[in-house]
Amino acid sequence: MEYRQAAMLDYFQTGIFAAMDEKKAELLRQGRKVYNLSVGTPDFRPAGHIMRALEESVRNPDNYKYSLVDTEEMTDALKNYYLRRYGVAVSDGEVTGVQGTQEGMGHLAMALCNPGDVVLLPDPGYPIYEAGAHFAGCEIVYYELVKENEFLPDLASVPEDVLRRTRFIVVSYPSNPVGAAAPKSMYEDLIRSAEKYGFFIINDMAYSDIIFDGREGFSFLSIPGAKEVGAEFFSLSKSFNLTGLRLSFLIGNPSIVRALKLLRSQYDFGISFHYQKAAVAALTGPTDEVVRQCAEYQRRRDALCGGLRKQGWNAWDSQGTMFTWIPVPKGYTSASCVETLMETSGVIGTPGTAFGPKGEGYMRFALVKPAEELLEITELIGRTFPMK
Ligand SMILES: Cc1ncc(COP(=O)(O)O)c(C=O)c1O
Repeated sequence: MEYRQAAMLDYFQTGIFAAMDEKKAELLRQGRKVYNLSVGTPDFRPAGHIMRALEESVRNPDNYKYSLVDTEEMTDALKNYYLRRYGVAVSDGEVTGVQGTQEGMGHLAMALCNPGDVVLLPDPGYPIYEAGAHFAGCEIVYYELVKENEFLPDLASVPEDVLRRTRFIVVSYPSNPVGAAAPKSMYEDLIRSAEKYGFFIINDMAYSDIIFDGREGFSFLSIPGAKEVGAEFFSLSKSFNLTGLRLSFLIGNPSIVRALKLLRSQYDFGISFHYQKAAVAALTGPTDEVVRQCAEYQRRRDALCGGLRKQGWNAWDSQGTMFTWIPVPKGYTSASCVETLMETSGVIGTPGTAFGPKGEGYMRFALVKPAEELLEITELIGRTFPMK
């Protein structure tokens, strides 16, 4: 028996990724070497003190029960970390743990929107923003991130009546996929617009610890007025190489946090005690590895973007994140370029269109290989698309 899926799911297409997976499997079957730069999972290890905390936790039989809520120990660790790292004081009602930003963001609109409410999302943008808004039956309006505007939001291009109907806007810097960082003034402007039009701001902070060329990662909540009009997701996935533990927090305006908590209390029995212990170790332990890792990502960025420039490509340096956003050569679309590259050289990128229509003309490479290997990969790319 074949059962039909919910009509709501017709919105989603697996097309491009399924086709890429099939091609990759085929290359591997042929015994070809594959360089997978399409993944968003760091190749770095978690710090020893985090793994030791988990080891200790698994030996404690009490830690196998439903946790139901965040432990005081984890909430305190988060609050102290925010104060130390970002200069932001967080009170109890202003924070909740979520099972990864992906999960929290996926449910946020359901907790805060009614069908038809407008949600403003970046194009190109990280796909869960759109999926979450769709689940809640929101009207999705995109703001464009373009190179000419340094990949920053330009709300002047959004009609005023749309801004008035907007429930919330999602922003995320340093940005996946475009690799741009934002100045504090961008957030200051956004806060003024939120106050004027009555929407709130959700900042997705996944990469504050992967930021280059002397820029400082900061929390949106450190900007005056932010907590009045917004909240941010702070994920431990990339800073601490804990992608598989699903650890993130929503922090900020208590009414936003309260709504998500209420919704989550209906289906979530809490983050595993083991993972909460890992979060405590990450947030209270030394962060020298986080700093070293950022320097290594920058070396990789230099190797990939600099290597492509040597091959005659118009590749600019990412300002942060573990990704680079590269314009495809003339005569190719994002998809045809990624496909040709994969077939010819075994290098796998992600077509920019996987992140929205404005991603056309770009492909994204993840910095998940050592710098030396990335430099070799740029030579393979250069041979596939000679620019000189
Ligand atoms: C911008 C952005 N937000 C959120 C996530 C997901 O974070 P988490 O692992 O906490 O679900 C990612 C992961 O790649 C990301 O790039």
